[in-house]
Amino acid sequence: MTSIVVQQRRYLTATRSLSGKLLAAQEEERARIARELHDDVIQRVALLGQSLDELATFSHDGDKQFERRVRGLRAELVDFADEIRSLAHRMHPPVLDHLGLPAALSTLAGEIWSTSRLRVGLDLDRSPVEMPPAVAAGLYRIAQESLRNVVKHAGASTAMMRLAHVDGGVQLVVEDNGSGFDTAAPRGAFVNGGSGIGLTSITERARQFGGRVAIHSRPGAGTRVVAWIPLGKDQA
Ligand SMILES: Nc1ncnc2c1ncn2[C@@H]1O[C@H](COP(=O)(O)OP(=O)(O)OP(=O)(O)O)[C@@H](O)[C@H]1O
Ligand SMILES: [Mg+2]
Repeated sequence: MTSIVVQQRRYLTATRSLSGKLLAAQEEERARIARELHDDVIQRVALLGQSLDELATFSHDGDKQFERRVRGLRAELVDFADEIRSLAHRMHPPVLDHLGLPAALSTLAGEIWSTSRLRVGLDLDRSPVEMPPAVAAGLYRIAQESLRNVVKHAGASTAMMRLAHVDGGVQLVVEDNGSGFDTAAPRGAFVNGGSGIGLTSITERARQFGGRVAIHSRPGAGTRVVAWIPLGKDQA
């Protein structure tokens, strides 16, 4: 009996460590793809744009149709480059590496406003603190998924995002005044035909760094996601 319990614990620990490694590998892969899109694909599109500009100069006077067509293609190419750029930023926001987590969270709030018209209030401790890039990326993904859930499920009129230094770690809180849900009800992937993995992945991300996530919600009373990650010396 004892040995079955020990085996189960070992299995759970091994599964958690594997899922942590998978999340870290996924983050690295995203950053690599984002760099490639930015440094390679967008540059090639820019070169194509220049070629089109040159082509336009071949136009004979009066060939309005030709000029219009080239101008149309040029405009499409600009849209295309914008889309790739925004995809690259979503995959791995450059502001996270250059300006840090608080700046990336406030950019995220701006993006949520422009895409979903959800106002996200901010209360972010911006005091400089040594934070491993992987932890910053993890907290950013937690904020991203929490806000995505607010937009997708809550029907909230407003949300709030807080970042603070608590108990030798970083605490991120995302709360909304929306519909809320029954946290005790079975949910997530493979349950009741559900396919959600967001809340599980939030919890795994925090655990990956020795942290934790608490989800407070009740039907009709909004939702609050609280994630905390310790800032120990021995973190990656
Ligand atoms: N802020 C919220 N307001 C209301 N309900 C929520 C909120 N966040 C989560 N939920 C409920 O919890 C469920 C599980 O969320 P989860 O993020 O795990 O999955 P999902 O959003 O349905 O799918 P996925 O994240 O995989 O796209 C949701 O389907 C929704 O019912
Ligand atoms: Mg979700």
